[in-house]
Amino acid sequence: MTPTYPAPTSVPGDLWGRRQRDPLLRAVAGVTTAYMRSLRFLYRTDLTPPVSDGSRRMLVRERRMVAHDENVVSLTLTAPTGGELDRWRPGAHLDLELPSGRRRQYSLCGDPADSRAYTIAVRRIPDGGGGSLEVHDLLHPGASVKVRGPYNAFPLALPGHGSTADGLHFVAGGIGITPILPMVRLAHRLGLDWSMVYTGRNRESLPFLDQLAEFGDRVTVRTDDGDGIPTAAELLGAVTDSSAVYCCGPIPMIEAIDDALPPGAEFHYERFSPPPIVDGRPFEAELARTGEVVVVPADRTALDAISDVRPGLAFSCRQGFCGTCAVRVEHEGRTSGQMLLCVERTQDERVVLDI
Ligand code: FES
Repeated sequence: MTPTYPAPTSVPGDLWGRRQRDPLLRAVAGVTTAYMRSLRFLYRTDLTPPVSDGSRRMLVRERRMVAHDENVVSLTLTAPTGGELDRWRPGAHLDLELPSGRRRQYSLCGDPADSRAYTIAVRRIPDGGGGSLEVHDLLHPGASVKVRGPYNAFPLALPGHGSTADGLHFVAGGIGITPILPMVRLAHRLGLDWSMVYTGRNRESLPFLDQLAEFGDRVTVRTDDGDGIPTAAELLGAVTDSSAVYCCGPIPMIEAIDDALPPGAEFHYERFSPPPIVDGRPFEAELARTGEVVVVPADRTALDAISDVRPGLAFSCRQGFCGTCAVRVEHEGRTSGQMLLCVERTQDERVVLDI
């Protein structure tokens, strides 16, 4: 038999009628609220991201051209309140969500001791996918931008503190100076044994030359128009098997250094673009929610191939360290792990993805 319930009008008044609040409780609540507000004001901080996706809004406070060819702009970002920010160490980067929704990573190149501002520098790349054009054309002082991080995928291990090296050598190619600059400053401040080679097409294209001038002949500047394309030996200088080398630049530069490095030397690098696909095999990606099957060729990433049919897929670093592109892998209807679409492949003929 189907049970019957009384109509709402028969519900007792203390459940459905107007709520009466105890005057004493109301007074206590008022005092408590005022107290909490005053605490929040006194100890206000910008360390807690204001939105649930881990991002926070920041303001562009300052903008400067930092290369003579006027193609590299540095932006100083602060919290809207000007308050304290998360601390960072050399090698860290920010993840910016640009006005179009594109996400791009930019190394922090300012002073880690400045707890109220982050500085990034961006080279204008006309055919680089539009991110740098947005930064140059839209992010003027007063503009607001969504920021995640700082994250650090390129940490500096100091000799005696995480590294057994007895000297540091830095190599920067063009805009690759951005993560290297705070490392150099720190090494210098700590009185470490360090050297650096900085290369680019010409001096006009090299940002921050003025800031490097204070380090004198520890920094060797080589330009293609004046010195020719540098060899790996020229990039490595006096590196020995007990050195640690930190490099940021184009992939050919990184590969050349890797090949020429003395055995035993540490090598740490950050590249501008996704890692090349080595020995890739084609496979099929089945999109579980629609049953669609996408062929991932041997020379493309799953992210690129699937983005052709699902343009909105989330990604950020495209290098396998941020985790933004991770999707669940299904096996017989159950989750059996996850795949970073930007770098990971399967050895099977087909993988089923929760897309
Ligand atoms: S986009 Fe960062 S891990 Fe794939």
